[in-house]
Amino acid sequence: MSYRLLSSPLQGFTDATFRNAQQKYFGGIDTFYAPYIRFNRKMIIKGSYQRDLNPEVNTSLNLIPQVMTADADHFIFVIKYIQSLGYKELNWNLGCPYPMVTKSGMGSGLICNTTQIDHILDRAHSETDVTISMKMRLGYESSSEIVESFKILDKYPIKNIAIHARLGKQLYKGGVDLEAFQKCIDVAKHTLYYNGDITSVAQFKAMQERFPSIEHFMIGRGLIADPFLPSMIKADTNQYPENRWEIFREFHDTIYQQYDSMLSGPTPIKMKMLGFWEFFSQSTHNPQKVYKAIKKATNPFKYTRAVNEIIALQKKQ
Ligand SMILES: Cc1cc2nc3c(=O)[nH]c(=O)nc-3n(C[C@H](O)[C@H](O)[C@H](O)COP(=O)(O)O)c2cc1C
Repeated sequence: MSYRLLSSPLQGFTDATFRNAQQKYFGGIDTFYAPYIRFNRKMIIKGSYQRDLNPEVNTSLNLIPQVMTADADHFIFVIKYIQSLGYKELNWNLGCPYPMVTKSGMGSGLICNTTQIDHILDRAHSETDVTISMKMRLGYESSSEIVESFKILDKYPIKNIAIHARLGKQLYKGGVDLEAFQKCIDVAKHTLYYNGDITSVAQFKAMQERFPSIEHFMIGRGLIADPFLPSMIKADTNQYPENRWEIFREFHDTIYQQYDSMLSGPTPIKMKMLGFWEFFSQSTHNPQKVYKAIKKATNPFKYTRAVNEIIALQKKQ
């Protein structure tokens, strides 16, 4: 097999609890990226980031930390922090599309600011020995932005550039722009990773066929919607294991119990799991009905009953 599958980070979803359970019950992911570290006003690594990156809770998986910033001091601070934990690589997020982020010149709003990208990479490479990789969109307004940024990125030993083949201004709307991604392949000197809308074995194969030189594929939302996806891609099959729903149930109960012990009170755990079911429901036979049933479950007892009913129904279909 000449390709690797990577878990593209989703803030609020692909934390250590999810990653470990995904790895244990389904497998298929070669490397996980942690959701980004971000600062508010103070240069302090929040407790939730610290707990998530703690090597002791990530022993069985390959994990790469990520940062989202447009500030060189912050960048260096995070490099030193992740190095103190033993990590060798830091991924830099130039992809986030949300206006609160892009308006302050971060995420995909930073792609057009090649002077600042240059400044930050220059400091990172002259002041530290960390390995840097990038995660970008094609641009915020136009895909000419990423092509321009390559001229700067070419100066540095960037390990790879993962590209979510959309523009920032699209948010998650519209399709991925495969022609623009091809243009990136044509001009890039660095290794590119493909990211965007891999939600099935067929979709993966279509991307692999269209971009034969690409050896790394990142799966974001598709991994949460169907945690079996990477192992099925690797086995080159559309066939789920016979005990599909038993495995899913064990996975579900594992993350539920861990979140329940970390969150206090019935509302936070309900909201947490509802967020997951927005994705999980997509790989059931009746997504809207499933999501509604979870939404209506107003206490833990009703929630468990709803999950029991959903699983029983899926097994019958
Ligand atoms: C709720 C949510 C949170 C996300 N958080 C991050 C993040 O922390 N870091 C990052 O690089 N990308 C983040 N992304 C983007 C995904 O990693 C991915 O690039 C994007 O969803 C496209 O890939 P997909 O079509 O396979 O999901 C997030 C996306 C969503 C929907």
